Amino acid sequence: MRLDKYLSHSTGLSRKEIHRLLHAGKITLNEQPVRNAGLKVSEQDDIYLDGFPVEAPGARYLMLNKPVDFVCANSDGSYPTVLSLIDLPRADEMHICGRLDVDTTGLVLITNDGKWAHRVTSPRHKTGKRYRVWTSDPIPAEAVARFAEGVMLNGEDKPTLPAELEIVAENEALLTLQEGRYHQVKRMFAALGNHVQRLHREQIGTISLDEELEPGEYRLLTEDEVKGI
Ligand code: URA
Repeated sequence: MRLDKYLSHSTGLSRKEIHRLLHAGKITLNEQPVRNAGLKVSEQDDIYLDGFPVEAPGARYLMLNKPVDFVCANSDGSYPTVLSLIDLPRADEMHICGRLDVDTTGLVLITNDGKWAHRVTSPRHKTGKRYRVWTSDPIPAEAVARFAEGVMLNGEDKPTLPAELEIVAENEALLTLQEGRYHQVKRMFAALGNHVQRLHREQIGTISLDEELEPGEYRLLTEDEVKGI
């Protein structure tokens, strides 16, 4: 790939800006200053911009531990977006795979690979999403069968797909969904006359939220995590 294109894809800077930096001698290629924007480079080359290494452009896959009061959107008038927590070039253009409500915490997958994002979110792929739910009222044992059969949500004409509920305490359960309707978990509990007080996503498909990640932190996915979806 041409050096200017490589730099632009890696950093998110415009070609014009890259040409200016090249001209100013701010770029080195394999430890030599370089000014020729058309040079062919690859991931094997060592490229530095103003003394900082330039990462190879390409697909990026991240997991983020979403805190409360951040929205899963590319922009929002009221709250900061989860993408503002990502310190990478062009983070604001990345895909958020399966959105969480502003008051929901936990696992969010973020990528610049649109096809992969589609695999995570498309109902056809039936990627399970596991939530930990805390409710205001005790969760009755019958809820397990109700959710396994599917419940009718307010304002909809088709019941939810079978979902797996594991009650772990009087007011706490793990719920695994194969679909992602609007406010689905909250509405499923509302259909039973209960109220979700707190909601946290722990897993998507085979990817579990890394316990080392504090709210607001993220890390790159491993190759196995990416392939497992
Ligand atoms: N279901 C909800 O109700 N809210 C979420 O954030 C995710 C699933």
